[in-house]
Amino acid sequence: MRIQVVDHPLVSHKLTTLRDENTDSPTFRRLADELVTLLAYEATRGVRVREVEIKTPVAPATGVKLETPTPLVVPILRAGLGMLDGMVRLLPTAEVGFLGMVRDEETLEVSTYADRLPKDLSGRQVYVVDPMLATGATLAQAIRFLVERGANDITAITLLAAPEGIAVLENEMADLEVPVTLVTAAVDEKLNEKGYIVPGLGDAGDRLYG
Ligand code: PRP
Repeated sequence: MRIQVVDHPLVSHKLTTLRDENTDSPTFRRLADELVTLLAYEATRGVRVREVEIKTPVAPATGVKLETPTPLVVPILRAGLGMLDGMVRLLPTAEVGFLGMVRDEETLEVSTYADRLPKDLSGRQVYVVDPMLATGATLAQAIRFLVERGANDITAITLLAAPEGIAVLENEMADLEVPVTLVTAAVDEKLNEKGYIVPGLGDAGDRLYG
């Protein structure tokens, strides 16, 4: 698994305000949206394009257009919804699939309560968005669903990641033939005993949606 931490002063600046417990919900939503646009810019460096010929008002020119089928964007509900608008602003022709997943607060086990992914993802490039990679269980399961349906290039975009979750994901992805990339704004120190990222930003779903 390739890991890219987007090291940019604007990302760090916005992330600092996002982490602050005094940041209210409307500001949190706006910052999450702005951050995902910056992360998506980096994450889509490998987006598939094809060469096209066009004519400018002056002369013929060669350029590129997004390859079809266009990428699939998958927010993991709930918190991933806070990153969807930012993604589709950058990729307006992307198709969107939804996964609803929640982890039990006691056991940290993950269950899937909604699956609205296209049935066949053969050869598709997929961007999964979820603000938090904590134990890694949620993203690992989401990536398995995508691979089972044929996705052959997967990028996960998170705002924060814990080292423990990255290790779990790397282990899970070790025998996959499919390239997986993780793009994140920061890798934090650790997980606490409740499975929260430390220092983190609290519960992203609650801070976005109450
Ligand atoms: C949070 C977060 C991730 C998951 C990360 O969602 O948005 O989906 O936990 O944890 P993991 O890496 O340990 O699996 P949560 O289950 O709280 O649901 P929500 O988005 O509906 O709030």
